[in-house]
Amino acid sequence: MTIARAPGKVILFGEHAVVYGRPAIAVPVSGVEATAIVEDASPGQGITVIALDLGRCFRVDEAPSDDPLRLIVELTLRRLGIESPPALTIALRSTIPIARGLGSGAAISTAIVKALSQHLGVTLPPSEISALVYEVEKIYHGTPSGIDNTVIAFESPVFFIKGRPIQTFTMGQPFSLVIGDTGISSPTRDVVLDVRKAWERNRAYYETLFDRIGKVAEEGRKAIEEGDLMRVGRLMDENHSLLVEMGVSCAELDELVEAARKAGALGAKLSGAGRGGNMVALVEPETASAVEKALKEAGASAVLITQVRGK
Ligand code: MEV
Repeated sequence: MTIARAPGKVILFGEHAVVYGRPAIAVPVSGVEATAIVEDASPGQGITVIALDLGRCFRVDEAPSDDPLRLIVELTLRRLGIESPPALTIALRSTIPIARGLGSGAAISTAIVKALSQHLGVTLPPSEISALVYEVEKIYHGTPSGIDNTVIAFESPVFFIKGRPIQTFTMGQPFSLVIGDTGISSPTRDVVLDVRKAWERNRAYYETLFDRIGKVAEEGRKAIEEGDLMRVGRLMDENHSLLVEMGVSCAELDELVEAARKAGALGAKLSGAGRGGNMVALVEPETASAVEKALKEAGASAVLITQVRGK
């Protein structure tokens, strides 16, 4: 039996603009995770996926050819040079809420690649895991930047620019994040598509917005490296305002962001695609529980506190 895990993620700076080539910063969230357990099955049975949280149990070769779970299994086998699938079961569990900006799809795919390849005797490097997961992200997201698969496969804070090698960076000091869930499902694919349509209608306006967000991400990296958390927080606030201008926030996200700031957060913003899903607040350890309480009172359906450290 082989078990592998993958964390969730939050984007600290640069969502959406990252799809258009601007830099972004994301960090892994270890308080939630996806797990894949691979076990040998009776010969001749092929590969069965048991997705407990989704209530799905199916043979991989009987699933539709564009099923993301089928695809990641097949891509992994192809990478390992295995032509006839061995008899296996792959049991999946995840504590990462789906369609809430925490990278649930990329984490499930990552856990599958890791568990399956290790079970078959190969340990793939994070870069290869990330590349395989990216192929499946295209089904979940349409035109993904690749940031989710990268941060989750590397399990490290990343400064990410689409199509370029991953950049990790040093952190002046570790910090704490409080992540609040609006309880609203918001598929990334839909929001990314809406932003694309808006960009096509008014390229000049959106390009300027993306440039401003890219600049905030660059300054955010500098502030994180210098350990200047006050500045990181202010930049997160600025990033949220730009996302509001972009039209990807919603009343529930704005309320949680405001509640976190009032309770003493150094800064707060929506995280991920927006229009629902999660927001993230940067806090000093001593204000974490006040911010958590304020978020719950403001209607958050779940609140998570996580520490971010360098690799
Ligand atoms: C999703 O986590 C982040 C987006 O920027 C989409 C992407 O980068 O693929 C909204």
